[in-house]
Amino acid sequence: MVPELASRDHIQRMTPLLNELLTQCGRSLDDLNAVAYTSGPGLLGALLVGATFGRSLAWSLNLPAIGVHHMEGHLLAPLLGSLHNHSEAAERPTDLPQMPFTALLVSGGHTQLINAHQLGHYELLGESVDDAAGEAFDKTAKLLGLGYPGGPALAKAAAQGDPTRFIFPRPMVDRPGCDFSFSGLKTFARNTISKLEPITDTDRADIARAFEEAVVATLTIKCRRALVETGHNTLVVAGGVGANARLRATLETELRKKLTVRVCFPDFNLCTDNGAMIAYAGWRRLQAGASEPLAVRTRARWPLAELAAADA
Ligand code: KG4
Ligand code: ZN
Repeated sequence: MVPELASRDHIQRMTPLLNELLTQCGRSLDDLNAVAYTSGPGLLGALLVGATFGRSLAWSLNLPAIGVHHMEGHLLAPLLGSLHNHSEAAERPTDLPQMPFTALLVSGGHTQLINAHQLGHYELLGESVDDAAGEAFDKTAKLLGLGYPGGPALAKAAAQGDPTRFIFPRPMVDRPGCDFSFSGLKTFARNTISKLEPITDTDRADIARAFEEAVVATLTIKCRRALVETGHNTLVVAGGVGANARLRATLETELRKKLTVRVCFPDFNLCTDNGAMIAYAGWRRLQAGASEPLAVRTRARWPLAELAAADA
């Protein structure tokens, strides 16, 4: 990704996107009661475009503006319930997860285990010391010639693969704690490929399967550790890799074997980056009394644990 091109692309898309959104929702600007936008972490140029647009829109409409932490958006996405339940008449489901809970945030930029004490009070239990899980999916998919974004493509290939042909290592499971490391799996995939070259579609599927099994097993082991440490009975899984069907199924079955635990995932459409989760996080923050001054604040790096706790 070229940061400058990404920023320019954002500028070109902002106004048409807002208009399309309002048309699709049958709403006008007069219906808005606040504007939430992502303040970070991420690519600074792209963040600045969105934040400047959002803050200015709020100012022009005399509305409160809420700068949202991207990962808090992911973390709260499972609390949105199903997107299809959200007609005005539908009741909100009563079984949505409630904090405190333990959260696995697995995206293209982050792999973190979080103790979510209350809205805004997030304690980091462990994180990847190198590549994020999604990044490892993307890089391994590229090595296999499966295209971008690699996660869904690799998962599709893995579904046809033989799980017994290659066994990839489970990184860092022999060390205590909840940290992860995924860059070694990509190297393992590269070495496996170079021994077989030229690779066939069957090789591709078998390597994809072995890689996916290793990532899922590692995430599952660390989630179990985190749940034991926090004593929570709810695990919330969020971020793009949370859309992975094998991860969803394995967490459900494996964690329940030894723990009384409920595993909650966002709606599939809410796993990967989306505006609804940012709007929801902004709404929760607004209810808790948050609003931005008349300034545009963005942060390329922003640890989730630095957020201010909210009481509402
Ligand atoms: O949360 P997200 O949309 O963006 C970031 O905040 O990074 O996550 C994107 C990541 C990508 O690395 C993508 O390959 C991965 O999520 N991903 C998946 C699947 N769907 C998306 N990884 C594995 N299996 C999937 N089904
Ligand atoms: Zn994301």
